[in-house]
Amino acid sequence: MILPVLALLAAPGLAADYRPVYHFVPEQNWMNEPNGLIKIDSTWHLFYQHNPTANVWGNLNWGHATSDDLLHWTHQPLAITAEDGVEAFTGTAYYDSENISGLGTAGNPPYLAYYTGYFPSNGTQDQRLAYSVDAGETWAKFPGNPIISAAQEAPHDETGGLETRDPKVFFHEPSGKWIMVLAHGGQNKLSFWTSSDALKWAWVSDLTAEDVSGLPSDVKGWEVPDMFQMAVEGTGETTWVLIITPAQGSPAGGNGVFALTGSFDGTSFQPDPVDTSMLWLDHGRDFDGALSWENVEASDGRRILAAIANSYGASPPTNTWKGMLSFPRTLALHESGSGRYFVQQPVDELITVGSSLATIQNRTITPGETLLSSVHGTALDIQLTFSITTDAVLELAVRKAGAEQTVIQYDSSSETLSVDRTASGNTSFDPAPGGIHSAPLVPDASGLVRIRVLVDTCSVEVFGGQGEVVISDLIFPDEASDGVALQVTGGSAMLRSVQVRGVSLN
Ligand SMILES: *[C@@H]1O[C@H](CO)[C@@H](O)[C@H](O)[C@H]1NC(C)=O
Ligand SMILES: *[C@@H]1O[C@H](CO)[C@@H](O)[C@H](O)[C@H]1NC(C)=O
Ligand SMILES: *[C@@H]1O[C@H](CO)[C@@H](O)[C@H](O)[C@H]1NC(C)=O
Ligand SMILES: *[C@@H]1O[C@H](CO)[C@@H](O)[C@H](O)[C@H]1NC(C)=O
Repeated sequence: MILPVLALLAAPGLAADYRPVYHFVPEQNWMNEPNGLIKIDSTWHLFYQHNPTANVWGNLNWGHATSDDLLHWTHQPLAITAEDGVEAFTGTAYYDSENISGLGTAGNPPYLAYYTGYFPSNGTQDQRLAYSVDAGETWAKFPGNPIISAAQEAPHDETGGLETRDPKVFFHEPSGKWIMVLAHGGQNKLSFWTSSDALKWAWVSDLTAEDVSGLPSDVKGWEVPDMFQMAVEGTGETTWVLIITPAQGSPAGGNGVFALTGSFDGTSFQPDPVDTSMLWLDHGRDFDGALSWENVEASDGRRILAAIANSYGASPPTNTWKGMLSFPRTLALHESGSGRYFVQQPVDELITVGSSLATIQNRTITPGETLLSSVHGTALDIQLTFSITTDAVLELAVRKAGAEQTVIQYDSSSETLSVDRTASGNTSFDPAPGGIHSAPLVPDASGLVRIRVLVDTCSVEVFGGQGEVVISDLIFPDEASDGVALQVTGGSAMLRSVQVRGVSLN
């Protein structure tokens, strides 16, 4: 994109355009959720819903970027293009390691990318396949597309196949079948399909909201399914996990992401009853369309999620790009007396870049004191571990200058973690980007509260405890708002450990 140089000089801040330091955004123009996340050899592939020609939703293709460390991304040419009046909507990728599809060779098995074909002319959506025989560098469309037509979907979809989308595909060893999970727009249901050759598909079951005991009735409009098996740490057991982005009913409003556990026999998913306190993978406004990387080698073994951070369409005050990828986070499943719960943490690659700006150890903070006020930075990784008296409130302000600040707060009496964007910067571009998001967080067995805060040019992602609660929100502060402040009111806190790192990628 060519921007007039004089305009850049005349408008301080426009040159930077809120581009993050360590979060992925498109080189230019629009992105929405990630697609087809897959690791091939040592390369992390990120595909994403991308309009390469305008800064708004529309003309959707699969954009592509690659990384060796989930931090430094290299922009690549479009992977799956809009062509002949068919756009490439969301989907997933899988390694056909045994060349079951026949699209590769025994010596060079293919990578398969399943996506929804969208006809803007009449709104029809069908399911399509592209494949790569060069380790994910280029993708060819399968000549027999669509692999599932709107007519084949119609008996299983209230809209006659118009709104059937977002294929999640994987190979299920016990049944020897390929499985596809499809979302049905506006219908609060998924359908399951199976295939012997990864090419011809047959419907086998539906999962509807009525099948999920305890799911709140306002959680509606299921989209972007992800599904995989996962160990329940410390138990020797595994379970199936199904991740869904609903359009309504999330804690902060708008799209959100919830996760179900359950069993799967190759035909139908039987969800465990929902515990609503453990349902949501994020309590902020800006985390949806979450998918996880497939084909991560067993020696790594992590299940890593990424989502789109942007609940405001084309409204945010960025000019050259819209839509940011959440920082990649690990997902694990733990078990305690009260049940199973997910924990998430930023990937450890983050601590390999940047440098320490401040540390505090074993120091009590009391009302009237302000710590960390000499720290400045707009890209930070902050870790706090503390104990706190019963009526105290600990407040960490970031992206602070003058009246501007984003406040991460732990309220001891209500055992609540929150993010306050009221004074965070530009919140006037849309009705949703202000206010306070909160989630319950109890101290650990030794009375310690842990909070990890990732700050970047236009975001905060706050992980509480071991990562059992996360709050992700976009913020649009002034570039000059780079201050930090740590304070307590109503009581005191014993800061066991505070570490502030400045994150830079060079
Ligand atoms: C892989 O697919 C190719 C192309 O159809 C086919 O010639 C070959 O026999 C297949 N190999 C295996 C092991 O299935
Ligand atoms: C939608 O448009 C495409 C392209 O013109 C056409 O092939 C398809 O049959 C249409 N579908 C419906 C349901 O009208
Ligand atoms: C906030 O962002 C919107 C959208 O870019 C812009 O129109 C508005 O002027 C901005 N407000 C402030 C106070 O900068
Ligand atoms: C801080 O205090 C704890 C608990 O008394 C102790 O285990 C730890 O070693 C102390 N850390 C430092 C750096 O003194």
